Amino acid sequence: MDLDQLAALRTPEGVNALDAAARVADGDPLAAASALRAAGVPAALAAAALTQVELRRRAAAKFGPAAAGMFLTRAGLEQATRGVVAARRAERLRAAGVRTLADLGCGLGADALAAARAGIRVYGVEADPLTAAMAAANAEAAGLADLFTVECGDATAFDVDRVDAVFCDPARRATGTGRRIFDPSAYSPPWDFVTGLAERVPRTVVKVAPGIDHGLIPAGAEAEWVSVDGDLVEATLWCGRLAEVPRRATRTSADGERRHQLTGAGDREAAVGPVRRYLYDPDPAVVRAHLVAELADDLGATLADPDIAYLYADTPVESPYARRLEVTDVLPFSLKRLRALLRERGVGRVEILKRGSALTPEQLRRDLRLAGDTAASLVLTRVAGAPTVLVCRAG
Ligand SMILES: C[S@@+](CC[C@H](N)C(=O)[O-])C[C@H]1O[C@@H](n2cnc3c(N)ncnc32)[C@H](O)[C@@H]1O
Repeated sequence: MDLDQLAALRTPEGVNALDAAARVADGDPLAAASALRAAGVPAALAAAALTQVELRRRAAAKFGPAAAGMFLTRAGLEQATRGVVAARRAERLRAAGVRTLADLGCGLGADALAAARAGIRVYGVEADPLTAAMAAANAEAAGLADLFTVECGDATAFDVDRVDAVFCDPARRATGTGRRIFDPSAYSPPWDFVTGLAERVPRTVVKVAPGIDHGLIPAGAEAEWVSVDGDLVEATLWCGRLAEVPRRATRTSADGERRHQLTGAGDREAAVGPVRRYLYDPDPAVVRAHLVAELADDLGATLADPDIAYLYADTPVESPYARRLEVTDVLPFSLKRLRALLRERGVGRVEILKRGSALTPEQLRRDLRLAGDTAASLVLTRVAGAPTVLVCRAG
């Protein structure tokens, strides 16, 4: 896709091609392309329309029905924030009194559109010309062109004094190869610029990879980890006046209807005790936010190993932050003993969870040669440093 093809897709002929593509795109791609050409759509326009329709379908998982009118690139979609997460961030900015926002490296505009929907005036800056043009087209398609405008250029040159707050979601994929970048010094805009923003602008928000090293979190910033239905999706740094607590774990449902937040200093260690009747597997946002000790308080639970984030308690407690299992057996890890026990119980199906074990679940499943009608959960872990397997059932 290039700028000319994007422009062609936005003409009346292009809109018709997109409609036609949406009608035929379910079947075989070659047949769909032939059907469009038979309907008089030029080959290049047909190919561009079919690609957009395919990307819009994929984007529905991130953006819901809004995806149907968006213009997308594969790389832009991969890097875009999910609608539910962007909407919540926008609400928080709005509630903090932010009325004007710069989105420095706005990509296709997922965050900027959410902020505009929350009533914030957004100035987007995007270095890639096609992505910038698509973001502007997305603002128009959403009826938000008066609240979200896009400038194609270098975000580092933007005059941040013009706005109440800045948001930056640096590119964490290499241009060309699309490979993930794990080293923040290779982010774009560069990490020095991003952390400098936090010093220059009183309200700065930065989206980062959930695996961010805690040592890189700017002093005084709030770091929030977000999971959607238990999948860890990102971390956000709320800097300056926007910081409310040191650490926050947010778990949201995919539709945004249910949201739970656990907060704390993130510097406490949970107490260690024996394996107890109930095992809790904390949400990854809680683990990454270093809030396992706070969760342990809520559950009346302890760890069984100081380095492993499974919690154990004598009584069952409902919690949105952890999955609960009931432990039926605790074995020092031995394939032979485990196989014998599962045979005796008629266990034919297992799910395998692990923390602190080098074993490969798929290999273990093969080695167990299971037979039977019963299901069980196996937890591969360490207890006081010793490799251990816990046989569990739904708790
Ligand atoms: C992770 S994406 C942003 C995604 C966006 N938040 C969303 O949810 O749609 C980062 C974007 O920053 C852009 N970018 C990288 N360096 C830039 C720079 N120096 N100036 C402007 N844009 C830049 C990239 O082209 C990329 O589109």
